[in-house]
Amino acid sequence: MAPSIRYQCNSCGHIEAKWIGKCPSCKEWNTLTAFEAAPRAPGVRRGRANRSALNLVPLRGETPPLDRFATGIGELDRVLGGGCVPGAVILIAGDPGIGKSTLLMQAAAALATKGISTVYVSAEENIDQVRRRADRLGLADAPVQLDNTSDVQAVVECMFSVDKPQIMVVDSIQTMRSSEIDSAPGTVSQVRHCTDMLVTAAKATHVTVILVGHVTKQGAMAGPQTLNHLVDATIMFDEGDRNQEFRILRAEKNRFGATDEIGVFMMREHGLEEVPNPSEHFLADRRVDVPGSAVYAGIEGTRPLLVEIQALSVPNPTGGSSRRTVIGYDSNRVSMIVAVLEARAGVGLMANDLFLTVAGGLKISDPAADVAVAAAILSSVLSAPIPGCHAFFGEIGLSGEIRGAARFEARQKEAEKMGFSHIHIPKRLASNARGSNLVALSSIEDIVFSIAQHSRLDDT
Ligand code: TYD
Ligand code: MG
Repeated sequence: MAPSIRYQCNSCGHIEAKWIGKCPSCKEWNTLTAFEAAPRAPGVRRGRANRSALNLVPLRGETPPLDRFATGIGELDRVLGGGCVPGAVILIAGDPGIGKSTLLMQAAAALATKGISTVYVSAEENIDQVRRRADRLGLADAPVQLDNTSDVQAVVECMFSVDKPQIMVVDSIQTMRSSEIDSAPGTVSQVRHCTDMLVTAAKATHVTVILVGHVTKQGAMAGPQTLNHLVDATIMFDEGDRNQEFRILRAEKNRFGATDEIGVFMMREHGLEEVPNPSEHFLADRRVDVPGSAVYAGIEGTRPLLVEIQALSVPNPTGGSSRRTVIGYDSNRVSMIVAVLEARAGVGLMANDLFLTVAGGLKISDPAADVAVAAAILSSVLSAPIPGCHAFFGEIGLSGEIRGAARFEARQKEAEKMGFSHIHIPKRLASNARGSNLVALSSIEDIVFSIAQHSRLDDT
């Protein structure tokens, strides 16, 4: 069957049968490029299909234990689920300049130093640039092998060769190209095809492939969205708070580990430094005398983490519809909390603009942050600073009830360790918890009461 010509959008991957100026899917102009569509797979002929075509095996069988190569960089290993699995393809995605090459050079050097053979293919930077970075990181002596090809076929051949490495780093997938595809590097079809080739090679050779993928804010380039289903793990590298030089690693998908773990780093003069005790850092710049700040006793993956939630509620100057700006938490949940505060606690926020952020650039998805969010909003609305020794957690329901949260002992312990003497905890859990420092909350009115009471006590 003859191959036919199709047109694919470089921006979003949409496919059209005819060339048109504007992509109907992402509305970008002049992004469609022609490619040869593979002939359709012939259908199975009637009567010919039989199960023998499949290589069926019983569920029960010997499976070798999952060996992992731990990098020794604890924050990275935790997010990977304990290290790199042989034959896995891991995508490290993030904005340009965030520190992906730095992280992977540090990881490659750590692995190579442990005797795990590691190749670093830098298609983006030349050998001098890579060496200069390694110098700056103090890793110039690590036995990492370098190449700066952008030819994916050469990389695959290396993976099949007798002296194949155990770890193959490819920086970046957007600069790789295969001669089998006509379009330029970075286009959806090239990126997909190159990734496909590397995935197939990784499965066949058991070499772990670590890919770097750039994402732009507009998502304009072929980023993780198009690769997510091809790779075994997608690890996002985000900036957190750029001023504080936080860098946060988070697994978006991981076939070999949990996805709720985060890794926290600081970008320093000599590379990425692990932050083993993030609570301390996330609370470092907190001002306790200002209304609108509440500390959330959270859990990220297996690790308890204290973070500051900041709210600012100001009268809407235009008198029009009020603004709600939320960074780091689900804005729908914030709207729900505002509605519950209005309906169940009589706190009027209709005429106010509301801004809410999670300090340090963290993104929280655990609804147990509801109570801290409500406390921060209340503190701002009532102009009542929350004493610095108070921490909060618990989920808020629509009738204003405070619901439980997972792993309350770990939250309590971390808050105690950080010197919090008033830990606000859902009432249901308080009966099982021990400690004289607990404030039991059964409804949203209890939060209002606690904030009003303590800020009054502070006045006197
Ligand atoms: P890089 O790893 O090149 O980012 P990416 O590969 O994601 O594009 O690093 C980007 C920034 O990090 C760069 O602007 C310089 C800074 N940096 C440091 O602050 N300290 C260091 O030790 C290194 C190597 C980089
Ligand atoms: Mg780079």
